[in-house]
Amino acid sequence: MSARVLSLPGDGIGPEVVASARRVLDAAASRVGLALSWEEGLIGGAAIDAEGTALSDATLARARAADAILLGAVGGPRWDDPSAKVRPEQGLLGLRKALGLYANLRRIAVHPALVDVSPLRPERVSGADILFVRELTGGIYFGEPRVREPGRAVDTLVYTDAEVRRVCKLAFELARGRKRRVTSVDKANVLASSRLWRDVVVDVAREFPDVALEHQLVDSAAVRLVTHATSFDVIVTENMFGDILTDEAAVLPGSLGLCPSASIGEGKGGLYEPIHGSAPDIAGQDLANPIGTISSAALLCRHSLGRADVADLIDAAVSRALADGARTRDLGGRLGTGEMTEAVLRHL
Ligand code: NAD
Ligand code: IPM
Ligand code: MN
Repeated sequence: MSARVLSLPGDGIGPEVVASARRVLDAAASRVGLALSWEEGLIGGAAIDAEGTALSDATLARARAADAILLGAVGGPRWDDPSAKVRPEQGLLGLRKALGLYANLRRIAVHPALVDVSPLRPERVSGADILFVRELTGGIYFGEPRVREPGRAVDTLVYTDAEVRRVCKLAFELARGRKRRVTSVDKANVLASSRLWRDVVVDVAREFPDVALEHQLVDSAAVRLVTHATSFDVIVTENMFGDILTDEAAVLPGSLGLCPSASIGEGKGGLYEPIHGSAPDIAGQDLANPIGTISSAALLCRHSLGRADVADLIDAAVSRALADGARTRDLGGRLGTGEMTEAVLRHL
């Protein structure tokens, strides 16, 4: 039986990096006789233009039926009208929520060959390997009420005990496969939701006596990320802190364009996407780094298809291409998206 993968390229550089990842995934899968059956759908601005909504019911139904989803990015200046009723980002948020993908795993690890690419000093980034577990379906992204009226606007940050518990539990489980250290990042000195978060994570930690737990406030965690990155193992945090801290952490490996993510929930299906956005400034110019999406395809094989063999092939090819000096412009090199993809394919 072949695995059903839904591709949702989206906007901006999304279609470019997804096409690249598809080529690499197809090549790796065929090496071990895995048959993939691809479907393609619209999301974000592309879906608004064609269907009037950022995520149609038909696309959502196909997402539910798929074994896994590979997504590029959504959004762009074309759809940024502040008075618009529909926004591209609603498609992505709606998909995460509808599929119950409550945990977004963003591992940020520094490739030895790229230590000098980071704007940070080599001794600060060398050896850094952090697994962020970002809560993805709660917090201020989804809280009600949400109001915009003349002279006043409201967003609401809500967390329930159960929402915090399940994502923290996952973080501890994943820490067992790593260095057994969890840093829970919050703003407990100000936010009631963070004080709830702290109580719950302390309770979860009781089930994991072999894993060390520490708490850190988000503002000082932001500093520690760039000064003592190697002191972190697993970081678990709420939705918006996780969004911001992972973009910050992307300076460690050298570029936002390198970083993949997996969004998972109760079910087997998952959503795989780079952590970067649609990069309107470089879209359509063959300049995007495809590695974040290629590595997301590897995560897709590992977590949703149960094919660690294919994931290992892809990861090894990416690693060898980088070790061999393949560099897109964001890494200080001259390769285009297509040439970087060829470099990875050559090392497969
Ligand atoms: P962005 O991540 O799109 O771009 C930030 C900077 O990083 C830009 O200079 C861009 O050129 C560069 N960059 C990003 N990905 C790159 C890659 N693969 N290779 C080389 N350089 C890369 O963030 P932004 O500019 O703040 O947001 C642009 C749009 O993307 C917005 O509409 C936003 O809502 C959307 N967005 C979508 C997602 C998503 O779909 N998951 C994530 C973040 C932002
Ligand atoms: C991300 C993006 C999204 C988020 C936006 C586009 C809704 O920034 O995937 O990191 O904030 O989650
Ligand atoms: Mn983001």
